[in-house]
Amino acid sequence: MEKQTNNRGQWASNIGFLMAAVGSAVGLGNIWGFPYKMGANGGFAFLVVYMVLVAFAGIAIMLGELALGRKTGLGVIGAYQTLYKKFAWVGWLGFLSGFLILSFYSVLGGYTLRYAFGFIMEIFSEGAGFGGMGSGEFFGAFTSSGGTSMLFHGIFMAITVLIVMGGIESGIEKFTKVAMPALLIMLVVVIIRSLTLEGASTGVAFMFAPNWEAFSEIGFMRVLKTAAGQMFFSLSLGMGCMITYGSYLSKQENLEKNAIIVPVVDSIFALMAGLAVMPAVGAFMSQGVEGISFGAGPGLLFVTLHQVFSVGMGGVIGNLFGFVFYFLVFIAAVTSAISLLEVCTAYFVDKQVSQGKGSGRKKLTVIVGAMIFVVGIPVCLDGLGAGVAGGAMIDSPAVMFGMAEVRMAFDCWLDFYDMIAEGVFMPLGAIMMSILIGWVLGTDVIKEEVEATPNLLMKSYKFWDICFKFIVPIAITFVLIGQIDDFFGLRIF
Ligand code: PHE
Repeated sequence: MEKQTNNRGQWASNIGFLMAAVGSAVGLGNIWGFPYKMGANGGFAFLVVYMVLVAFAGIAIMLGELALGRKTGLGVIGAYQTLYKKFAWVGWLGFLSGFLILSFYSVLGGYTLRYAFGFIMEIFSEGAGFGGMGSGEFFGAFTSSGGTSMLFHGIFMAITVLIVMGGIESGIEKFTKVAMPALLIMLVVVIIRSLTLEGASTGVAFMFAPNWEAFSEIGFMRVLKTAAGQMFFSLSLGMGCMITYGSYLSKQENLEKNAIIVPVVDSIFALMAGLAVMPAVGAFMSQGVEGISFGAGPGLLFVTLHQVFSVGMGGVIGNLFGFVFYFLVFIAAVTSAISLLEVCTAYFVDKQVSQGKGSGRKKLTVIVGAMIFVVGIPVCLDGLGAGVAGGAMIDSPAVMFGMAEVRMAFDCWLDFYDMIAEGVFMPLGAIMMSILIGWVLGTDVIKEEVEATPNLLMKSYKFWDICFKFIVPIAITFVLIGQIDDFFGLRIF
């Protein structure tokens, strides 16, 4: 095997790369985003739209990112600078997206850690984990306390930093090679429990029953936008994550194959997450347990599911499954967080290496991690938008900036960061990348890079070419318009 000549690092094996890339893709987006979005947007009908998008846009963008990364051997900023100077700013968009996403992702990751910890404590002594409070009450108290969120945000960031500090092979690869199989096992355990509950079929029906009318009720464009936005986030695309991970890939590995495996496995995980979550929610909803209904976002993950384990299942079994569930979500979040941090760290490491110095990875990771921690602090302090009036320490951006009339995106710091990164930077980054490949450099760059592997010929050149030139830019333009529409409540669609 070709050994790395500089000290940037390299994956030791293709399976190691796949574990890391799938680890990046499988995260909070799959577990709390996908099941609800699928259920609320047409069930099986949504799944069809989602899979079509993955097939015609997701896989192509994945291939494009991996190829550009491996070709340049640099992180997102360096890659764009090298490929086409005029697009260097696209690299910076990616860097900033990674930075911003991680700053709120880590706060949420901290929540999962707090909950896993809480359920363990409950096993030993009732009330020790969640203070004997109800699900909603505890969540409200926890999120508006600020201090505890910050503590767990700090712990989560520290864990992420420790892994990334270890480098590609002995940090990220080593961790994800153990974490991903463990995640899979825990997920299967929770799925079995969830599906065998009385009334589980209500949840399965909510998520899977095909409802083609949703397209006319909700509006097909909205459904499309939701599916596409979900796909980007879930596949970690549009912000250079896969460029960065691709840059550590050896020329021996088959890019075309890898670009298909990651999205397929990610989609399987999303469906599995749905089978872990929704049947349990449906079961206890149909059994009439109070406070349980299908919902989205933080409420689903931290209030409804807490209720599912603590009241629905209850007792030691409930606590045990509660722990396993939140711990698996935590693991999924960590393996995504390390990829976000690596996007940022790689820039500085590449700079050091290009100046002929040592990578300085350890020190740089700590500095970048600390900066991200600081930027995440407002997310910990506004009580998810409850604001000072709601008992939190600071106000939402809407109140702070006097923009109360603007809906959603300014309602809390988390949504505000999310709007900038996921809503604007990521789709813009993906459009620019497909333009760069399809129109500026030509799809040949991808072909050449795929065929840099000895004895390998690119299989579906024509298909990729059409994807880069037409399908991807058009599909993402809809996402971009749809996101802006949604975040600002313009209701264009
Ligand atoms: N894909 C991750 C998830 O589904 C989030 C993520 C986005 C990770 C972008 C890296 C880059 O939760």
